[in-house]
Amino acid sequence: MRKTRFALASLLAAVVMALVATPAAAQASTTSELINQLNGKLLYVAIPITVLVEVILLYTVIKFRNSERALPTKENRRLEITWTIATAIILLFVGVASYGVLANEDVTYQGNEIDAAEDPVVVTAEAYQWGWNMYYPEEGNFTTGNEIVIPKDRPVYFQVTATDVIHGFHVPELALKQDAMPGSTNTIRTVANEEGTYQGYCTEYCGVAHSQMYFTVEVVSEEEYQNWLDEQQSSE
Ligand code: CUA
Repeated sequence: MRKTRFALASLLAAVVMALVATPAAAQASTTSELINQLNGKLLYVAIPITVLVEVILLYTVIKFRNSERALPTKENRRLEITWTIATAIILLFVGVASYGVLANEDVTYQGNEIDAAEDPVVVTAEAYQWGWNMYYPEEGNFTTGNEIVIPKDRPVYFQVTATDVIHGFHVPELALKQDAMPGSTNTIRTVANEEGTYQGYCTEYCGVAHSQMYFTVEVVSEEEYQNWLDEQQSSE
C-alpha cells in the first residue's frame, strides 16, 4: 500500500503548494491578476496529475506488453477509497479557487450600479458598425471616438453597449471582455495597475469592417488624467 499512500501524499502536496503559491509577477490590471493567479494555481494541480497518469499508463503498457488477454484486478478497497478521496479533494480545491475569482466584482461585475464612494471613472463604450464612441458620462459626456484614457490605481467602470448589432469589447492585456448589445448595457469593472497603451478589439463578428474595430486604452497617472480631462472639457 506504500504506492497508494505515496500517490495520495503527492496529490495533497500539490494542492497545498497551489494554495500557498502566489506568482509575484506584476499584472496590468486587478482583473488579469485574478485570472492569471487562478490559472497558475490550477496548473500546479494539473501538472502533477498529468505526470502521474502518464507514468502509470507507460508502466502498464510496458509491464503487460506480452499479456495474451486482460485479467480483472482483484478488488482493492483501500485503493478505491484513496482515489475517491483524492479526486474529491482536488475538485473541492478547483471549485473553491475558481469561485473566489468568478465571484469577484473585477471579473464578473453584477448589476449596473456604480459605487460613487470609491471615486470611480466611468466610461461608456458604445459600439457601432464599424467603430467605437467612448463617452465620459460623469464628466459632461464628451466623446473621444475610439480612444479611452484612464488613470492608474483607480476603479474604472466600463458600460458596454451598441447602437445596431452585437459587438464585443475586449482588451486582452487588461483581461477585459464583455458583449456589446444593442438596447442594453453590460457593466465591467477593473483597476489598472500599470501605465501604458493597450489595444482593444471587437470580438463579435459584426460585418465587413469587423476586423477594423480597434480601440485603445491608455493608462496614465492621476495627474496626467486630470490634465487630459481639463483639455477635453475646455475643447467641448
Ligand atoms: Cu464590431 Cu465586430
